[in-house]
Amino acid sequence: MDENLPESPCPIQSWVSQASACVAHYAQGLLRIDAVAADILRVRFAPSGRLAPPRSWSPVLDLPPAGLSVTEEDGVVRMSTDAMGATLGLECGLLQFLTPEGQVFAADLGAPLWREVALEETGMEHMPEPELPAGDARIGVFLQKRMAPEEGYYGFGQRTGQLNRRYRRLTNWTIDKSSPGHSRGDDNMYQAHPMFMAVRPGLAWGLYLNSTWYSAFDLGAADEEVLTLFTLGGELDYFVFAGPTPAAVVEQLTRLTGRPMLPPLWALGYHQSRWSYGTDADVRGIAQTFREHWIPIDAIHLDIDYMDGYRIFTWDRNRFPEPSETIAALHEAQVRAVTIVDPGVKNDRETGYRTAESGLAGGHFIQRPDGEPFTGWVWPDESLFPDFCRGATRQWWGELHADLVGLGIDGIWCDMNEPSIVDRPFKVSGVCEQPVPLSITQGDDGEALHAETHNLYGQLMAQATWEGLERLRPERRPWVLTRSGFVGTQRWAASWMGDNNAWWEHLEMSLPQLASMGLCGSPHVGVDIGGFYQNTVGELYARWMELGTFYPFMRCHTHCDSRPQEPWSFGPEIEAIVRSAIELRYRLLPYLYTLAHLAHRTGQPLLRPLLYDFPWATHLHQIQDQVMIGPQLMIAPVCAPGVRRRLVELPPGHTWYDFRTGLPIDSDHLVADAPLGGIPILVRGGSVLTLGNIRPSTADPVSELTLEVYPDHNNAGNWTLIEDDGESFAYREGALCETEMGIAPAGQGAELWVAARRGDYRPPARRLTVRLHLMQPPVGVLLDGNEADGWTWDDERHALVLGLDDDGQEHRITPRF
Ligand code: GLC
Repeated sequence: MDENLPESPCPIQSWVSQASACVAHYAQGLLRIDAVAADILRVRFAPSGRLAPPRSWSPVLDLPPAGLSVTEEDGVVRMSTDAMGATLGLECGLLQFLTPEGQVFAADLGAPLWREVALEETGMEHMPEPELPAGDARIGVFLQKRMAPEEGYYGFGQRTGQLNRRYRRLTNWTIDKSSPGHSRGDDNMYQAHPMFMAVRPGLAWGLYLNSTWYSAFDLGAADEEVLTLFTLGGELDYFVFAGPTPAAVVEQLTRLTGRPMLPPLWALGYHQSRWSYGTDADVRGIAQTFREHWIPIDAIHLDIDYMDGYRIFTWDRNRFPEPSETIAALHEAQVRAVTIVDPGVKNDRETGYRTAESGLAGGHFIQRPDGEPFTGWVWPDESLFPDFCRGATRQWWGELHADLVGLGIDGIWCDMNEPSIVDRPFKVSGVCEQPVPLSITQGDDGEALHAETHNLYGQLMAQATWEGLERLRPERRPWVLTRSGFVGTQRWAASWMGDNNAWWEHLEMSLPQLASMGLCGSPHVGVDIGGFYQNTVGELYARWMELGTFYPFMRCHTHCDSRPQEPWSFGPEIEAIVRSAIELRYRLLPYLYTLAHLAHRTGQPLLRPLLYDFPWATHLHQIQDQVMIGPQLMIAPVCAPGVRRRLVELPPGHTWYDFRTGLPIDSDHLVADAPLGGIPILVRGGSVLTLGNIRPSTADPVSELTLEVYPDHNNAGNWTLIEDDGESFAYREGALCETEMGIAPAGQGAELWVAARRGDYRPPARRLTVRLHLMQPPVGVLLDGNEADGWTWDDERHALVLGLDDDGQEHRITPRF
């Protein structure tokens, strides 16, 4: 695509500086650099000289601009903020970025170029029209930058394949990547994240290509050291993040595009799903069996068969005679109900179907140029598609959830929202994809082409759903799950990676896939545990559940044709393994929920690659079969059948502990035992891991909180446990409970201090158990300076154990040697 480019526009003819911007002109084309924050610069290049109008649905938030100092010296315009700089060569017209220390990154290799692009040159498939729409839609803009030889390229959102995407060509265009399922060599999928971070020794910087049009990155595929940014739409608009660490890049990205929503606590529990638990009896039976088998669960998902002929917002009354009673029965069993809602509204104008009628009356559906609504086929056959770019349509869509909310539904699962459309009923042979024509207009007064808005369809549906739930039930945090999404979707929804297969390869692939999502600011992610297509087998299911325990969103889901995939479906041995995996999830919830709060505050992912926490340990950057879960835990799942041991790399600089034995490991790697039911879980020294007791669901409060204290070699470390009511927005007004705790050196060992609780939320009364991992048993223990009795020494796990009431006061537990 980047061959035969026209001559570069090169020299800058003139430039002016404004308070927080620099505007320059090539002979043809305008270049504008804005300091949207001290550590985020925005670059826009418009060959037409006109910048595109702002869009109401832009994923980018307005940040208070930062000061940009601009000077000219020796033919170079130098721009700088407090955190980064950029230079623009007047003769060559090239832009490059600089760290405060003067290290160059993201340097242009040529000035931006543009030309008309043909549809066949893009990766868009099955387009109903032979050509791209006329005008800006077919003007492709290209920019080439130098890739430092030692840089790895990470992020790019939902992808298959390796964590480091260098040498690949990746496009950004949302599609239904379902049947027959995705695999390693695939490119774009259900979600689009035109965002990456480049990581080299000592520096991570990031780039978000702010284009909702079809766009692409060439990451050294065509030329080893050349990064090409490409987008349709006639303007190049990108943000550069100064880093300098991967964590800083994620913070900068989510400051710009919105922090991840805070899920209600139950959403971090275990979810059970299949296509479909299709009758009232099925749904009740599943909940009851979980309870009979003493397996914790928080949510059951209702897939498409609960509806009447797949008409969204209806119920099949033969299958669910009284939906409110079904939901009440689930709630009685402490199980939340999540219903699927697809965007396709059955084009049923005869049976008094309210959703179609009100949508048509309100002009809420995407229209063809002749004013007739656009239709295509999905589950309910011929369907209409809401135009979520319109504010009034999002409002209407939100209100449509009133009945579901009235029934007590707890969460909404948005599916098929790429949007996925075919050209005839699914049951007729020869079904072919039939995307919305790119030339159709959307938004108020048809302000934008579908070519510009396509990538946002899933995101805007999730937003409309979340905002609707928030209005309908302001006392509860909404919970939305979406399949399609874009940069920014994290503000409203969790997501899963679509229709995978019951393959070991897909268990393995889930790690780089979810880690890449996290690097793009989307932390609440999971994949279908057990696999969607195909029949899973006991060993794979058990291994996947062991890994799924650590997915930020933990759901088992499968296809209608696959064999049962409930925890008890594979016999008692596998059931026992799966039960303890889910139990571990519940024990970890106080930690995971704190991580969800941290994600909400700074964007930091719950599940992340090693490079996130150990950017200086460059030898670990490529590792993708081990991940960190927050800063304290590292997991090393087993990704192949029959394997009962595996190599685990231990990042240097810390003492690492085996979570199961509680014992320290004195090496930079480990050949760990990994029996079925026992994937390696490591704890980083310096951690105070907060564990709850096992509960049937999150409806029962934690009655026993355990502080597992793992001193580092310097006997230091700290952590703040964050709690709230788990359900409402009261945390925004300070109804939080934050408990700071830390490890400090004491004699030949370490002591634990716990600060008094902060915040207006008080957790229910509970016991506190401290387990302080030490090299040798103490002779005595001081509790707040007084000799404590009742402590014990756990010889097997090398831990001093002390129980006390969790009274919210300051405490100090000091071993005496
Ligand atoms: C899509 C979804 C899948 C769901 C199915 C039926 O394939 O990705 O999760 O079960 O549709 O609704």
